Amino acid sequence: MTHRIGIIGGDGIGPDVIAEGLKVIGAAGVELETVDYDLGGARYGRDGTVLPDEVIEEWRSLDALYLGAVGTPEVPPGLIERGLLLKMRFALDLYVNLRPFVYPAGGIDFRVVRENTEGFYADRNMFVGSGEFMPTPDVALAVGVFTRDACERIARRAFALAQGRRKHVTIVHKTNVLALTTGLFRDACRSVAEDFPDVHVDEEHIDALTAHLVRRGSDFDVIVAENMFGDILSDLAGELSGSLGMAPSLNASETKAMAQAAHGSAPDIAGRNRANPTALILSSAMLLDWLAEHDGDVRLTAAATRIRSAVRGTLESGVATADVGGLASTAEFTEAVIARTLRR
Ligand code: IPM
Ligand code: MG
Repeated sequence: MTHRIGIIGGDGIGPDVIAEGLKVIGAAGVELETVDYDLGGARYGRDGTVLPDEVIEEWRSLDALYLGAVGTPEVPPGLIERGLLLKMRFALDLYVNLRPFVYPAGGIDFRVVRENTEGFYADRNMFVGSGEFMPTPDVALAVGVFTRDACERIARRAFALAQGRRKHVTIVHKTNVLALTTGLFRDACRSVAEDFPDVHVDEEHIDALTAHLVRRGSDFDVIVAENMFGDILSDLAGELSGSLGMAPSLNASETKAMAQAAHGSAPDIAGRNRANPTALILSSAMLLDWLAEHDGDVRLTAAATRIRSAVRGTLESGVATADVGGLASTAEFTEAVIARTLRR
């Protein structure tokens, strides 16, 4: 069975890394039927299109989406990020943002399970308009939304994930200040924890957690976080695992998934054969695993495993892009990964 995947290269290094990711998927023997969507800052600059509703409707009939990165300095800040990426996440209710961070040399192997539809990204959860507003030119207010249902469903995913790992979930909050909102998040996670008695639970304030991650990242297994805390933790954890260019992610609901690296569009290095494609290549492996889980195609699981071990082998052999201290270009790195993917 061939899967139909929507491809959104986006902006900056997005199209660069998407091209590499597709090559690796092909080398792993997976045939995908791809549908290209020309969306992002450049498209907006040409004709003002950001994300038409018809496109979202089309996406509902696809198996999954594969996104490079969005955002460009030429368009008003946030327009593409909110209008495209966040709109995608909300419209398709991709409420889980799963971000694995692995760095064997540092003993790092944890997952951030980020709530992806609510929280302090206030503009992300209004029926119409933004959750940010200014009563006077000198005062700005923002609304965060936390619902018990959304907190519980993300917590369930985190605990279920931990059950298959080291059985340890860390709940992130800031209840010493944001007692009601992040308190609701924490309490919802605590109540879900009761259904997973074999999973050890602890809690951390977000500020303390950043320090603990840097000092003793190897103590963490699964971290469940509301939207903005999860976003911030992702960049920190990305660097802890070598480089943000290494950090993959999958946005998912029960029925749809979108692979997207955790990094941004890095316009300064776009088109220069310098981007690290690791994050997107590993995101592809996550996507293949997700597809396999949904249709039972074990060949996809095998392909995902091959891709991951090819990336690991490549990095261990010392082939690396500049962001992790190596000399390889984007294409050279991918070639090395492909050689190892084919070898197995
Ligand atoms: C991410 C990104 C996005 C986010 C931006 C581009 C809107 O930083 O996926 O981590 O904040 O979620
Ligand atoms: Mg981010």
